[in-house]
Amino acid sequence: MKKYPLSIIVASMFATAAIASTPVYLDENRPIEERVEDALSRMTTEEKVAMLHAQSKFSSAGVPRLGIPELWTTDGPHGIRPEVFWDEWDQAGWTNDSCTAFPALTCLAATWNPEMSRLYGKSIGEEARYRKKDILLGPGVNIYRTPLNGRNFEYMGEDPYLASKMVVPYVQGVQSNGVAVCVKHYALNNHEVNRHTTNAIVDDRALYEIYLPAFKAAVQDGGAWSIMGAYNLYKNQHACHNQRLLNDILKGEWGFDGAVVSDWGGTHDTAEAITNGLDLEFGSWTNGLSSGSKNAYDSYYLAMPYLKLLKEGKADPKVLDDKVRRVLRLAFRTNMNTRRPFGSLCSPEHVAAAKKIGEEGIVLLKNDKNILPVNTDKVKKIAVIGENAIKMMTVGGGSSSLKAKYELSPLQGIKNRFGDKAEIVYARGYVGDPTGEYNGVSTGQNLKDERDADEILTEAVETAKNADLVIFIGGLNKAPHQDCEDSDRKGLELPYDQDKVIRAIAKANKNLVVVNISGNAVAMPWVKEVPAIMQAWYLGTESGNAIASILAGDANPSGKLPMTFPVTLSDVGAHATGGYPGTPRNDGSNIVDCKYNEGIFVGYRWNDENKIKPLFPFGHGLSYTTFKYGKPELDSDSMTADGKIIVKVPVTNTGKRAGAEVVQLYIADTESSLPRPVKELKDFRKLYLEPGQTAVAEFEITPDKLSFFNDSKHEWIAEPGDFTAIVGSSSSDIRGTAGFTLK
Ligand code: BGC
Repeated sequence: MKKYPLSIIVASMFATAAIASTPVYLDENRPIEERVEDALSRMTTEEKVAMLHAQSKFSSAGVPRLGIPELWTTDGPHGIRPEVFWDEWDQAGWTNDSCTAFPALTCLAATWNPEMSRLYGKSIGEEARYRKKDILLGPGVNIYRTPLNGRNFEYMGEDPYLASKMVVPYVQGVQSNGVAVCVKHYALNNHEVNRHTTNAIVDDRALYEIYLPAFKAAVQDGGAWSIMGAYNLYKNQHACHNQRLLNDILKGEWGFDGAVVSDWGGTHDTAEAITNGLDLEFGSWTNGLSSGSKNAYDSYYLAMPYLKLLKEGKADPKVLDDKVRRVLRLAFRTNMNTRRPFGSLCSPEHVAAAKKIGEEGIVLLKNDKNILPVNTDKVKKIAVIGENAIKMMTVGGGSSSLKAKYELSPLQGIKNRFGDKAEIVYARGYVGDPTGEYNGVSTGQNLKDERDADEILTEAVETAKNADLVIFIGGLNKAPHQDCEDSDRKGLELPYDQDKVIRAIAKANKNLVVVNISGNAVAMPWVKEVPAIMQAWYLGTESGNAIASILAGDANPSGKLPMTFPVTLSDVGAHATGGYPGTPRNDGSNIVDCKYNEGIFVGYRWNDENKIKPLFPFGHGLSYTTFKYGKPELDSDSMTADGKIIVKVPVTNTGKRAGAEVVQLYIADTESSLPRPVKELKDFRKLYLEPGQTAVAEFEITPDKLSFFNDSKHEWIAEPGDFTAIVGSSSSDIRGTAGFTLK
């Protein structure tokens, strides 16, 4: 037998003893469920309860005795929020917490490119990880029901299929960093006014077909590790502790094994919080807003009041254990995973990602006479007009407000791109919102302008007259009643008299491009007077570069609208049917009942149903090149209940520039026992084509794409009969159809 020195033998005995005594919950080679059970078995009731609520504004306690770390959350969803004080919303003044501001989620949805979602998720997840955050409070996938919703910019548009396809890679990208997403706001948080007291009344078809699919996809296909309950009520219960939404649907039907996190101040009752599915309570006693007692964490609904009930034998310990398991799972998936990557902050890759996503999401709405891209051989003087050309947009808007490392303004982007070829002049045009502060983060901009409106307008008109090209950059901003949390817009029209300014400069100079910066559709009564219109969203850090790159044609626009732009508010289902913002009850309560009268007919489904021509349809977006669609070919004209049909559509780039086209597949159910939308988006492909190149968009139609939710049977049903595959460049620009039958 080989002889070892005594020191080696002793050392290896110690090592073996150390391995043998590693508790199961700390052994990363064991399955998570075993580790969860082991950790649970070691915890006291006090330790369990301590895990279920916040210990500071954005963190919850771990189990100090067992070395299970605290969980740190952060907003979300467009960048990593600056550090705040322990118990306050105000930023703490750290100097290492500036982030990359990524484009708003409406822009991401407008890329119609799941690869952009993956890139977004991976990049923002890396920033969260570097900043030592375990849970990113986002993405948001509430459906765009009304253009007045102040938070639409944080969501992914009006269509459940598009939002589902776009949310999944975001979730996977974030979580590949060992950082959990917290998908929000589940569910039916479709406007902001009365957000704590609105009781959404929606039928099951609309619930299952329109409002839930993106959440379900995030959970089942994306594998989301946490989800945030919404502020509003549904079936008279707050969504943060809601039997049907959380227990029956999320944890029951969908088998969600992660944790339900309350929105900040969204918990209202201990008994309901215990039994109706909430796992982790945040932001109570500050109303989720700004008032309330300080350091009141022990008084949270799931803190001492819960412990008291448990001690008195009035609360079921099994329910407690279920909650703790979910929170432990969250810990093992995130901060107890020693193998997770380290992340990175403000890297050149993140900046490039932000720019790329911005470029792909910008939508060219109109381009008469090919005014764009800017022809620098002819254009020697460019007049840039409008407040949004200079206003920083990363500060404001509510909880998604950021402290960006930098934010390049559109004007600066235009100067950088065109400055050596043309003279760039600027005029304000109007004064909108000169403020720029949120929770102690300031833009540092002084946008005050004491001149009266006429003087400012006259200057703009003069500036416009003397230029070869005018680029008006306006829209909404992140002030209350614009694109901003906790309030809704007051109307569809542009604020601050911008319509008047646009009309005046359109008269002064025919070569006008309007760049609308917003997270929402706006009315454009001047649409016929303006030859070129571009929808740019809140684009974050690289805003100016992304916009300039599209104006110049360095990037060929390929974004498509993720929502319908209506002509007027009465063209929107929720408004036409009196379903917004609801009716206060007459019973002394503060509840506002909001009936979703339009049912499943949301967005383009409403327009189709009522034959209403939109200002710009869902799915619309132009390019600097042209695409020719061939005839859609089906590999069979009939399918069985377990079969499929392949649709192939050749698309050719018939112009002179490389570009991308989003080929959209809608399906129409010709005859059905229940009312169905005229057509519904069921697939899409983004094809990148060189000039002259042809590629084939290939779609697979399976019975689930034909099915509807039968509310009386509570199941998805694909009814045999005739269907039509409709291929379009938008929901209105149909390029080909082909019929088939489901046997
Ligand atoms: C918002 C959430 C946000 C939370 C924390 C709430 O007011 O509704 O979206 O994540 O605050 O900031």
